[in-house]
Amino acid sequence: MISPSRYDVVAVGLNAVDVLVRLPEKVRPDTKHMVKELLIQGGAPMGTGSSAVAMLGYSTAFVARLGRNTVSEISIDQFKKYGVAVDLIVRDENSRPALALVEIDPKTAARTVFVNLDDYGFLQQQDIPVEVIRAAKVLMVDSYDLDATEWALQAAQGSPCRTMLDFESGDTERLRRLLALGTDVILPLECGRQLSGETDPAKVLRELAKLTSGQLVVTDGVHGSWALTPNEVIHQPSLPVAVKIDSTGCGDAYHAGYVAGLLEGWPLHVRMEFGTWLAAQVISQVGGRTALPQRKNLSHLSAPLSPALTQHLAQLSQQS
Ligand SMILES: Nc1ncnc2c1ncn2[C@@H]1O[C@H](COP(=O)(O)OP(=O)(O)OP(=O)(O)O)[C@@H](O)[C@H]1O
Ligand SMILES: [Mg+2]
Repeated sequence: MISPSRYDVVAVGLNAVDVLVRLPEKVRPDTKHMVKELLIQGGAPMGTGSSAVAMLGYSTAFVARLGRNTVSEISIDQFKKYGVAVDLIVRDENSRPALALVEIDPKTAARTVFVNLDDYGFLQQQDIPVEVIRAAKVLMVDSYDLDATEWALQAAQGSPCRTMLDFESGDTERLRRLLALGTDVILPLECGRQLSGETDPAKVLRELAKLTSGQLVVTDGVHGSWALTPNEVIHQPSLPVAVKIDSTGCGDAYHAGYVAGLLEGWPLHVRMEFGTWLAAQVISQVGGRTALPQRKNLSHLSAPLSPALTQHLAQLSQQS
């Protein structure tokens, strides 16, 4: 019998294995290029988001349907490497994670992603660990397997478990309806625009507030993030990054930092700042998970952080 109160965080969402390559300055078609920065790594919003939370020292589990094949084994190895528990993964011979080919522009750090979902292990309702979710502190979901997302969100309703939504794209009407089930809704601005019909971040937030009583945040890459408070819209600028290599996983890391702040009971602006800092770490290396820090590395950071975050991180790092 599994104890239901095992995890601080449960993640339900897309699971991918990324093959990432930082392209040479000049790509010559129909030739071979020797490259230094080419790697295989677990990816996807919840896959990487849950890894980031686990690296920060929170007990974290990922719910997925995986088979006995090479890509599934890589995915499981990757979860284990970053400290994510794999015992909520359901085995199903023919399933596998998404496969993603990620090409990174060496000049801008922007990445172009090609995703294949053949034989993807979409979750079934009986795969959702209802009691484990209800006993967790935070449930993280995305918008790539919306049936699973909805079952998991429904499972959390009426329990103390907070629900963090990271929607990037999908059926507009369904996503709008699901917003009501989120206690913390953190969307890329583009998705916020799709769901609200507004353009300006403040207007997007105010329009979405008609659909949810959850805390609303929108992110927009280098432009930073905005959150709606009862009195105003607050803006958190992105942090300057000296050397930008690969923007893969920035959004996932932002969500993870926010979730860590939720678990610690930090105020909204500190949660946003920590998410921003974590995202800025990720961009310095190839792969969304390569630069994820551990809790013990969070003291004496060189970035210009607010006194509030500096103090919270100093306390947190001492608990490692
Ligand atoms: N180029 C950048 N430089 C500095 N910070 C960045 C950059 N891109 C993203 N960030 C940080 O990460 C946060 C989230 O990024 P973004 O809005 O691109 O999320 P996303 O669209 O969900 O991305 P992803 O595809 O990684 O999930 C931003 O609010 C910002 O703090
Ligand atoms: Mg994202």
